[in-house]
Amino acid sequence: MSVTIALANQKGGVGKTTSTIELAACFTNRGYKTLVVDLEQQMDTTKYSGGDPFKPGSYKVLKEEINIEDAIQQTPEFDILAATPELSKADDEFTKPTDVLKLRKALQSIDDSYDFIVIDTNPGRNRLLNMAYIAADYVIIPTDADDGSVSGIISIFDDLNEYKEAKWTNADVLGIILTRFENTSMHKYQQDVIKELIAVKQPDAFFMTVRKAIAASECKTERTSLQKGKKNSKPAIDYRRIADTIIDRLTED
Ligand SMILES: Nc1ncnc2c1ncn2[C@@H]1O[C@H](COP(=O)(O)OP(=O)(O)O)[C@@H](O)[C@H]1O
Ligand SMILES: [Mg+2]
Repeated sequence: MSVTIALANQKGGVGKTTSTIELAACFTNRGYKTLVVDLEQQMDTTKYSGGDPFKPGSYKVLKEEINIEDAIQQTPEFDILAATPELSKADDEFTKPTDVLKLRKALQSIDDSYDFIVIDTNPGRNRLLNMAYIAADYVIIPTDADDGSVSGIISIFDDLNEYKEAKWTNADVLGIILTRFENTSMHKYQQDVIKELIAVKQPDAFFMTVRKAIAASECKTERTSLQKGKKNSKPAIDYRRIADTIIDRLTED
């Protein structure tokens, strides 16, 4: 049985891709067999982790043109179901109401092969994001400290509640990560606002921060995770803390 976690926020540039790669790398390093699913048209996770976006990937699996087992690639740090350029057609193609169940169905067939499945999603509220919500056991929300960030977080809680009521998913928000954290009054204020929101919406969700460091960008050009390339950097340490919190929570029950 695997645990499927979607990293989601309809806003871009908040750390979804970085969080996906780091958490997956940490799970692998802790001895868990981990698959990353890249559902993002920009293919950042695929490229930054050394996957090949020109081999069949998540799009062809969702189209049922290839078995998921045959599309999974091995990278040095984890397995990946890559994003490919055709993913940009998904919103026009997966229009049947039942299409939102396609990812969940595909992942069910490999449920016994992985401990963790981590899904990177695209910005925007669209069909691919809905597929990820429905396939997920848990959602983690990376966020920045901008003014509009909280309303984006609220809409994720609202969308998940809607799907729960429709009995499409049981996914809860497992936690919120404030990324690129700095010791400024703006970040501290936003931290308090998010903590208050968690208390109202999902009191058992975690709130954790990842400190800002240039190492996060440098690793992307080197095609490795921080865990491998810059393991003593502040964000690498923070992501290990978050991964260990997740592992503790999910192995508690
Ligand atoms: N902790 C961090 N410190 C500094 N830069 C970061 C950190 N986390 C992410 N970044 C950078 O912020 C940008 C956006 O992050 P990314 O993970 O690509 O966000 P998203 O996937 O939500 O668009 C990238 O250039 C990334 O390298
Ligand atoms: Mg991204």
